[in-house]
Amino acid sequence: MHNNLYAVVGNPVSHSKSPRIHSLFAAQTGEPVEYTAIQAPLEEFAETVREFFAKGGKGLNVTVPFKEQAWQLADHRSGRAEKAGAANTLYQDGQGHLVADNTDGVGLVTDLTVNAGVSLAGRRVLVLGAGGAVRGVLGPLLAEKPGALVVANRTVVKAEGLASLFRDEAGDSELSACGFAAATGPFDIIINGTSASLQGDLPPVAPGVVSSSTVVYDMMYAAGDTPFNAWARQQGAGKVLDGLGMLVEQAAESFRVWRDVKPETASVIAELRNH
Ligand code: ATR
Repeated sequence: MHNNLYAVVGNPVSHSKSPRIHSLFAAQTGEPVEYTAIQAPLEEFAETVREFFAKGGKGLNVTVPFKEQAWQLADHRSGRAEKAGAANTLYQDGQGHLVADNTDGVGLVTDLTVNAGVSLAGRRVLVLGAGGAVRGVLGPLLAEKPGALVVANRTVVKAEGLASLFRDEAGDSELSACGFAAATGPFDIIINGTSASLQGDLPPVAPGVVSSSTVVYDMMYAAGDTPFNAWARQQGAGKVLDGLGMLVEQAAESFRVWRDVKPETASVIAELRNH
């Protein structure tokens, strides 16, 4: 069967903006992409993926809570997915093997460097959190050659684990790990990759990590400021960004992986921001 069916798989998934983003990409590029959302039962991710490709589906995005399972299920993984330990993009190669990729890190870095014009090279970067979301972006962040990258987390041993996992990708960047209170600034760029806001919490970093020249980036997004960004603004951060651009950029990179066509993103980000 020949079709151009793509989907995002998650649980829950009804809130996902991916179908809207990919239809905007399809309209803009003229690619005949049909993109839906599939809620997989929590115990049936693998079956859902197999069924989708068996029916001729072309590519999947994977979201919470299945990104690690997607990584495990794949026959092959891109280098960036391998290190991320999680996959947000699946497709089949010419032999019918399931291939996993991870476009989240590139999405973050593109949003920061291209859309916001913030260079990471030589800068002091603080990354908050040490879960799957942070593991997914550390490789692409380090590839930008920051002067220093500090991973701070509530559970310090997890931050230390990530620092040692990515040591070989740090090159000349000074890569270190600590608890929130031990991160002493100011930093040029602070990236919040914790899920603290889901519990209505803020990662308890010292106010001194933020200065008037600090760029603060929350990987989450919300209609208004995220709680972390509202806090950063109160501390006088120079620039405050949320993760909507990252969401659109990771989608654009998945679209490029599947279709070999890179959509334009600025108009899509603007459209999502306004509606
Ligand atoms: P994700 O896929 O979103 O990264 P995760 O792997 O569960 O999810 O990681 C969640 C991250 O947010 C972790 O860094 C977690 O800290 P711990 O490693 O100490 O658990 C962090 N986090 C979650 N709730 C938090 C809170 N209330 N305050 C601070 N950090 C929190």
